[in-house]
Amino acid sequence: MCGIIGYVGSQKASHVITEGLKRLEYRGYDSVGIAVRDGNSLNVKKDKGMVEEVSNSLDFVSIGGTIGLGHTRWATHGAVCKANSHPHADCKNSIILAHNGVIENFVELKHELEKKGHKFASETDSEIIAHLLEDGIKSKTMLESFLSSLKRLEGSYAIVAMTSAGEEKLFVARRNSPLVIGVGKGEMLCASDIPAMLKHTKTFVPLEEGDVAVLSRDGYNIYSLEGAEVTRKQITVDWGLDIAQKGGYPHFMLREINDQKHFINESLASDVTEGKKLIDQHSRIDIVAAGTSYHAGLMLSYLLSQTGKSAQAFIASDYSFVAKPNKDTLMVVITQSGETADVLQAMRFADKCKKLAITNTVGSSVTRLADCTILMNSGPEIGVAATKTFTSQLAVIFKLVFPKEKLSNLSQIISQMLEQEDAIKKIAPTLVAKENVFFIARGGNVPIAYEASLKFKEITYIHSEAYPGGELKHGTLSLITNGVPVIVLAPSDATLSKLFGNLKEAKARGGTILSITNDDSIKNESDFSIPLPKNIDPILYPFALIVPLQLLAYHVSVLRGINPDRPRNLAKSVTVE
Ligand code: AGP
Ligand code: GLU
Repeated sequence: MCGIIGYVGSQKASHVITEGLKRLEYRGYDSVGIAVRDGNSLNVKKDKGMVEEVSNSLDFVSIGGTIGLGHTRWATHGAVCKANSHPHADCKNSIILAHNGVIENFVELKHELEKKGHKFASETDSEIIAHLLEDGIKSKTMLESFLSSLKRLEGSYAIVAMTSAGEEKLFVARRNSPLVIGVGKGEMLCASDIPAMLKHTKTFVPLEEGDVAVLSRDGYNIYSLEGAEVTRKQITVDWGLDIAQKGGYPHFMLREINDQKHFINESLASDVTEGKKLIDQHSRIDIVAAGTSYHAGLMLSYLLSQTGKSAQAFIASDYSFVAKPNKDTLMVVITQSGETADVLQAMRFADKCKKLAITNTVGSSVTRLADCTILMNSGPEIGVAATKTFTSQLAVIFKLVFPKEKLSNLSQIISQMLEQEDAIKKIAPTLVAKENVFFIARGGNVPIAYEASLKFKEITYIHSEAYPGGELKHGTLSLITNGVPVIVLAPSDATLSKLFGNLKEAKARGGTILSITNDDSIKNESDFSIPLPKNIDPILYPFALIVPLQLLAYHVSVLRGINPDRPRNLAKSVTVE
């Protein structure tokens, strides 16, 4: 989990890489580093901290040279410190690399290399790769050494490596961590994702599992781990450079919340025909996902259950402990990144059943493990907190279950809710100093309460929990005392009358009630209320409910002085189990 980038061409590599790292930072951001080759020497600058701050203070762009690589780290092995920051070199500083992933057998490889006299400068698993390569090139070419070293690695990797001497080439590989080649004119790039390279090209080659590639300024060759040359499809994207920029908003998250009114239409245009067929053909549906995507999964399980299907949503990391899929099971995985290790592991576990993937990432690992993929088409999401990809997932899920005519005015509903931003800004200060916040809803709105609570806690660092309203009295009510905020998701649908009772229970204990509602009795009982449109189809309430709650989390986060785009300890793409 992190971002890596490599460049070989005729431009100043330090410049291209530093720019790219800024776009990759959302993937991991505890440390950052760059290595550029100038003549026969490798210049490395790295430290813990954010890209902007470290690249400025160490003056990354002062390094000359036209081939280099960079890394933004999200530590898994070893503390967050300069020595553990990437890139990592061999003993002689003749090979340098950046690695994304986890090398599971690194302890045994490290012992073996130490016995041979290798000296390690960091506590990372990644550094052993540089020493394996060093060992290999004593008797082999760099490519041969690269291939044989990769074969010894267990776990996950996306790697970009280069040498201090010989031709200017980047050696790259992927297994269970994303890596895409960017094909330029007289220059080649590679990076963990496409937006990091958009300034230089619109033509890309997503590498497949186990692929190894060698890039020079004139082109690239891709090999299997056995060394046989393979061909991979090039793709062209028509994204503008601003797709990965803030577009005038102070944060990516706010832009992405606002973009939902546009992207919802793109997502509604996705082709779900094959997915629908698969659902119809199976009697049992296991839905597997993590985090926000799990909440979308819960929504799908509710919707399918209402049609009489046997459908259940599972937390991906627990799936293999609790489920027993068989050949009659359809596994539906939902994952924005398409690279979440917990999801991939669950897919490998369910080797007997057919798999349908709902993802936002063309060519991602899940698309290779799935029998059928539905692309969400929500464009890249940079903010670590999922917002527009959640509503896109909902759009696809609803399209799998309802006729598309029912969904035609979603963009309008989202726009209407975005207009509540000023009202939400006024409510945000009342939550800023709270220690706990509770969200309640019922029925099909419960997944939205879960999602709102996750959004809130991940970017405000305030503890929050969400419950079906009826559950409060079974324990949590003991926590509702004077001034404890209870956020009630109360559209006027079948859940309303029962939820009203739950609101009263919370209010009787002194809870501060914040409601999102189009019902007057709920509004009258609330300390604060955000209005919902009156005349919408009740099945669409989830879309209307989530938008103000995303905005609320965002504004509380900003008021608390947090950068909502990069909450502490989290990363966009979670490629470790
Ligand atoms: C939520 O805002 C995210 N931080 C996180 O929970 C995310 O949804 C989860 O890691 C799953 O990611 P995926 O959709 O890329 O699989
Ligand atoms: N496992 C490596 C480390 O801890 C790489 C982590 C990452 O992907 O950022 O340095």
